[in-house]
Amino acid sequence: MDRIAIIGGAQLNGTIPVSGAKNSAIKLMAASLLTDEPLRLTNMPRLADTRFLGKLLTRLGVQVTESDGPDGQQTLLHAPEITSGFAPYDLVRQMRASFNVLGPLVARSGQAKVSLPGGCTIGARPVDLHLQAIEALGAKIDLHEGYVYAQAPRGLKGAEITFPFVSVGATEHAMLAAVLADGVSVIHNAACEPELVDLQECLNAMGAKVEGAGTPTVTITGVPRLHGATHAVIPDRIEMGTYAVAAAMAGGEVRLSNARPGLIDALLDKLKEAGAGVEETADGCIIRRDGQRLNAVDIETAPFPGFATDLQAQFMALMTTAKGESRIRETIFENRFMHAPELMRLGADISVSGGEARVRGVDQLEGAEVMATDLRASVSLVIAGLVARGETTVSRIYHLDRGFERLEEKLGACGAQVRRIKGDGEAEL
Ligand code: EPZ
Repeated sequence: MDRIAIIGGAQLNGTIPVSGAKNSAIKLMAASLLTDEPLRLTNMPRLADTRFLGKLLTRLGVQVTESDGPDGQQTLLHAPEITSGFAPYDLVRQMRASFNVLGPLVARSGQAKVSLPGGCTIGARPVDLHLQAIEALGAKIDLHEGYVYAQAPRGLKGAEITFPFVSVGATEHAMLAAVLADGVSVIHNAACEPELVDLQECLNAMGAKVEGAGTPTVTITGVPRLHGATHAVIPDRIEMGTYAVAAAMAGGEVRLSNARPGLIDALLDKLKEAGAGVEETADGCIIRRDGQRLNAVDIETAPFPGFATDLQAQFMALMTTAKGESRIRETIFENRFMHAPELMRLGADISVSGGEARVRGVDQLEGAEVMATDLRASVSLVIAGLVARGETTVSRIYHLDRGFERLEEKLGACGAQVRRIKGDGEAEL
């Protein structure tokens, strides 16, 4: 298995182009199931998760073609017909978002058999709200032997869907299913994440009638069919935030380009409060730190536009060397502090109690062997490694490859000493 080795101490200086958002791309790819015409997605990140979903979609009848054109990386998805409505356990277990093929399959072909995703390292992550939405739209849902059997032979019907709390995945899933339903659907207490707006834009380019994404109420007027479209995936706000934190951690000056302002304001406000220099630009931001130590600040994760849970681990890494004590409250997932013990192997001083971690900044981290436990946790270890004395090696980086495109190359171009060590032990610079 590959590992990442980082030699700490180098400042970061340069420009990092932000890729298309993984968490949008995989939902947009699922939208290809809704039409028999081709959907062309540009600004596509090339990640283990997008490849993985491509594999599942191919099995369901989608022709998936990746290419690098003048518009950059793109993926053409074409499902002339749905050849199977079956998403097996092995594929859904490995990537939970695969579950979101359920709604489009039922919407287009009236039936689906999709595995329940099962457990996850960051929390229980049930799919009850997803099922509530698909059922409200008129599908008959049965659960047998770990599978969801959904049927709507006469098509889905528009409905009022009120979520008891905010769920990104369930809101996206309800949108994906309702676009082909007969009548109007209204989603109340919808998630407001930018990826929802991206999904709305893509679906509308395909002929859907969706309004209100990005607000708590989304209205979908069903249409009988969708057509092909070209859509550019929104920039990855979590990747952007991750490199912003990396720059604040290592010091130097990094410009994040190809992004959009306004996607990570909650993080940028906290970086400013901690003492980093932050300048917003037309296509991203510039982060600076000239050697002075950052101050500890508190954060609490929340749905958008609050502080993203997907940036919590990275911010914890940043606070390990800040001046003072920082309190980090995680409110979205119940078990998302798995990175804390690994950061402690690097010399961090952290105590965790329930949903709160207290991080007391230390003068210096020390390189060590650490292990990635999930995608964002793994990158927090890389960030800590940027300032740890000596070498830090992060193992199990298949987690990292799910969501960070060319990480070593992007950090390396700014002066970081980061290299991938192939499973056979040979180092690749
Ligand atoms: C999405 O997960 C992202 N994943 C997550 O990013 C992100 O952390 C999360 O949204 C919150 O922003 C993708 O987009 C692929 P939720 P999702 O439904 O949709 C509970 C990453 O690292 N819940 O908003 O699964 C759930 O357990 C990943 O890229 C139910 O109880 O998140 C959680 O506590 C990790 N029942 C809370 O709601 C349900 O039916 C919010 O989850 C659905 C969710």
